[in-house]
Amino acid sequence: MLNIVLFGPPGSGKGTQAAKLVEKYGLKHLSTGDMLRAEKVSGTELGNRVATIMATGMLVSDDIVNEIVQSQLKTHAASVPGFIFDGYPRTIEQAHTLDGFLQEIGTGVSVTLFLDVPKDDLVKRLLQRAIELGRADDTAEVIEARVTEYNSKTLSVASVYEGQGKLQKLNGIGSVDEISARLIAAVEMSSIKG
Ligand code: AP5
Repeated sequence: MLNIVLFGPPGSGKGTQAAKLVEKYGLKHLSTGDMLRAEKVSGTELGNRVATIMATGMLVSDDIVNEIVQSQLKTHAASVPGFIFDGYPRTIEQAHTLDGFLQEIGTGVSVTLFLDVPKDDLVKRLLQRAIELGRADDTAEVIEARVTEYNSKTLSVASVYEGQGKLQKLNGIGSVDEISARLIAAVEMSSIKG
């Protein structure tokens, strides 16, 4: 299986590039942000709980997110050539849990693509999206909280994959197509390395 972790701060282009990689490799896209927003829309008790946390820019608990991902892996593993993880794992605990889930289905993370984008550009992109799409957590205050949460809890996940020799840090500035070409080159390189 080809299993790609798309990693990077809020607004670095994970969702945008996941769509490009799905087109190229036919992988199943698993975005924990999208899945949590769907839970929120469903209006269940869990949905209401996660909505309150997401509105602050804080991370939802590892248990909730891990359970959602495991259920998706079980549902799709037999019918897809691999997965793109977008916005997951976001803590060291999630990274270890993902390794365990993938081992259970006889596979592992193939490569982690780290989209490197300076903070000023992230903020500009997300404030622009606020105008265009009005996503609830794209306010200046919540963006700041999301970036702080990323720096304190998520950035260290990169070192887990670096330690496994699976991390590829890429320039996330440029046109969507330029960046997608960089990501595809990195995926191809990682499959040659095995
Ligand atoms: P999530 O939905 O994952 O949000 P995020 O990580 O903050 O990421 P974004 O969706 O904002 O950005 P992105 O990197 O996908 O970039 P995009 O392609 O959209 O998570 C939301 C919340 O859910 C979290 O705060 C947390 O509460 C919770 N959550 C989610 N996962 C969790 C987990 N694992 N554990 C715990 N809690 C979790 O692009 C952004 C904008 O930039 C778009 O408007 C796009 O058009 C534009 N853009 C993209 N590429 C370019 C480019 N090359 N040049 C210019 N603009 C561009």
